[in-house]
Amino acid sequence: MQSLIKGFSKLSREEKVKVLIEQQNLAPEYENAFQDFLHKEKQHLFNDISENIISNYYLPFSIAPNFLINDELYMVPMVIEESSVVAAASKAASFWAKNGGFKTKIIDTLKNGQIFFNWKGSIQQLENYKHEILELIHSLTDDITFKMRQRGGGIVGLEFKSVPNMENTHQALIQFRTADSMGANFINTCLEAIAPHLVNFINQHKELKANEEASVIMSILSNYTPECLVECTVKCEIENLLPYAGNFTPLEFAQRFKTAVDIAINDPYRAVTHNKGIFNGIDAVVLATGNDFRAIEAGAQAYASKDKTYSSLTTIQLSETHFEYTLKVPLAMGTVGGLTNTHPLAKAAMQILKKPSAEQLMAISAAAGLANNFGAVASLVTTGIQKGHMKLHLSNVLNALDASADEKILATKHFKDSVVSYTTVENFLNEQRG
Ligand code: MEV
Repeated sequence: MQSLIKGFSKLSREEKVKVLIEQQNLAPEYENAFQDFLHKEKQHLFNDISENIISNYYLPFSIAPNFLINDELYMVPMVIEESSVVAAASKAASFWAKNGGFKTKIIDTLKNGQIFFNWKGSIQQLENYKHEILELIHSLTDDITFKMRQRGGGIVGLEFKSVPNMENTHQALIQFRTADSMGANFINTCLEAIAPHLVNFINQHKELKANEEASVIMSILSNYTPECLVECTVKCEIENLLPYAGNFTPLEFAQRFKTAVDIAINDPYRAVTHNKGIFNGIDAVVLATGNDFRAIEAGAQAYASKDKTYSSLTTIQLSETHFEYTLKVPLAMGTVGGLTNTHPLAKAAMQILKKPSAEQLMAISAAAGLANNFGAVASLVTTGIQKGHMKLHLSNVLNALDASADEKILATKHFKDSVVSYTTVENFLNEQRG
């Protein structure tokens, strides 16, 4: 076993790379790769984002144009490593732009913070003091929330709950609105300012005081945001679905599409993949705009299980003539603060989107999610997913194998009707190269 490395964080970037190359026995070319992907002038911006940085990890920054969302056209920036996603989003965006576009509704923008505490009392007793405690919370956080209140946010509610299956373990669930910021720092700062005073209130109150002092366990925002919710819908006459219908009639296509959605509603194995297709679009926008994709994924995947089994985040309405498809998803996003203001390309993404509010960004991300899911399900119930995928996969494999422009032309012709895999492409190139 290798010995533990001490003081790695204290080393310079060059020293870190040296240690890494020695320890992991890496070929020297990797030192060049790490060097090549540093930013020539603005590396300092990236050095402030994380720790132990030895290079930057590039991903493509793409644009899906023609997103008509609430009657406004957007060019949507997407950062994603998977081929076909941007192409599918662009195709679906153009299609829906000709069919009324994406219509969205923000259902609410509430976010939650949790203060967990031990207390040998009953939560009903505490409920009687809810208004008094909420007033205390407002006065304790007056300074911290001042600016946020001016922007329309702040602390808006309080609930007390006991943690199921745990004796004497309770929480204050505090509701926040955070205007255009994602609000994680704001919420956590408020919670940590409130927590000690909350247990003091309990310990000093004649009727609440227990034979053991109440004490704080932890305070943190919740990434479960079922009340920070956006709904996005597309609808059209069934006959307009012709461009997606493949060898089927538009009505047959719409019925097959509905069956696929119903399967995702009822079968969790399929629901996960179906929702993954939604997140191809959402995550790409979340990443491009410098938002916290782990928070958004965690919250939305939990929401997909809100009815006890994991299910589709989309629903469908089909009549004899009409197709209507809806995505409902919690998206706790921000357009100010954090990486959105520091990463040069996240800043560019915000400009491309015409400096959206958090609510507008929720709408745009949901539209990207619905577009990608619509494209994926449409392919699945007609030609299958591999046909379109393979064209782009081929180009990735050709690049990975350093194919020349001429070889790419030959390979594209050759693989038009045959199976693309790394090995088949490699064999083909080896034959060409003699
Ligand atoms: C691939 O990234 C996404 C799909 O699997 C989504 C789906 O199956 O609906 C094609």
